[in-house]
Amino acid sequence: MTEPLLVVQNLRCHIPSARGAVRAVDGVSLTLARGQVLGLVGESGCGKSTLVRTLVGAAPARASVSGSIAVSGTELTAMPDEARRAFVGRHVGMVFQDPMSALNPVVPVGRQIGEAVRHHHGLSRAAARARAADLLERVGVPDPGHRLRHYPHQFSGGLRQRITIAMALSCEPELLIADEATTALDVTVQRQILDLLTGLARERGMGLILVSHDLGVIAGRADETAVMYAGRIVERGPTRDVFARPRHRYTDALLGAIPRLDAPPGTRLRVIPGTPPDLTAPPPGCAFTSRCPAPGDRCAHEPPPLRVEPGDHAHACFHPTEGTSP
Ligand SMILES: Nc1ncnc2c1ncn2[C@@H]1O[C@H](COP(=O)(O)OP(=O)(O)O)[C@@H](O)[C@H]1O
Ligand SMILES: [Mg+2]
Repeated sequence: MTEPLLVVQNLRCHIPSARGAVRAVDGVSLTLARGQVLGLVGESGCGKSTLVRTLVGAAPARASVSGSIAVSGTELTAMPDEARRAFVGRHVGMVFQDPMSALNPVVPVGRQIGEAVRHHHGLSRAAARARAADLLERVGVPDPGHRLRHYPHQFSGGLRQRITIAMALSCEPELLIADEATTALDVTVQRQILDLLTGLARERGMGLILVSHDLGVIAGRADETAVMYAGRIVERGPTRDVFARPRHRYTDALLGAIPRLDAPPGTRLRVIPGTPPDLTAPPPGCAFTSRCPAPGDRCAHEPPPLRVEPGDHAHACFHPTEGTSP
């Protein structure tokens, strides 16, 4: 059996704050194979960004991190900082919501990509430039030879995001993580960028983690979906199964909150009542209890483990739905 690309075990990231430690990631385990797309979804504040940042060694300063992260069999958490940064830089690419935060506004994009390429491959300036043009072409920037000379502000939001994807690809990563990478873009551009990312993953046998608060981004693209709530994975499985047969009440509620195009006019959008718990003092049992439409006696006291039973996908719920989406 080939080794999985990414194996995360019992990962925790607790961030100190004035009100106490924020348990942003609280015991997450997941696996990703090469060429596979994993969707990571959940409402804002559930810990998705902290999880992926912790994976790449960029947890907030002074955070307390424990658990295990292995990329292609190499355990990262035990590595000295510098070796780990170098390893992650070679194997993992990241794309964020705001491309401007990843780009230098006063440097032409060709030079920025070229520098990333030189850093990873030690190419000459001319070779790096050719490679930068090549990367821009691969991510669908028209007229790349000419565009190399342009500055970030001379591109549209969608093209700018393509440029940061080109930069993330410059090291030929085995794993690409896109954290709300299309959230700021309009729907058409969003679809194009998501198709580009999933296409690259399939074509290059790269692992891709698509992080979004929007289930619509994951649907039809991710092979597997992991649903995160209050720092934990509450449901995980093949995307088709999770969407067609959500088991956790939180997933069910999230799916119910997606606007449906076939809904009769005037139908009110269902939102999930209440708000996610304060992660400095999460409830002792299931964190969704106070918002759950069908809580049982144990739920408030006992945290439900993420269970996998034969013929079903993993879910952490004592009273799962029958598995029919609303
Ligand atoms: N640097 C930080 N300092 C303090 N709290 C943080 C920091 N980063 C994230 N958090 C808290 O961690 C929790 C998870 O946040 P985040 O990982 O950004 O969630 P998501 O990406 O799902 O919206 C939130 O309660 C957030 O306020
Ligand atoms: Mg986030």
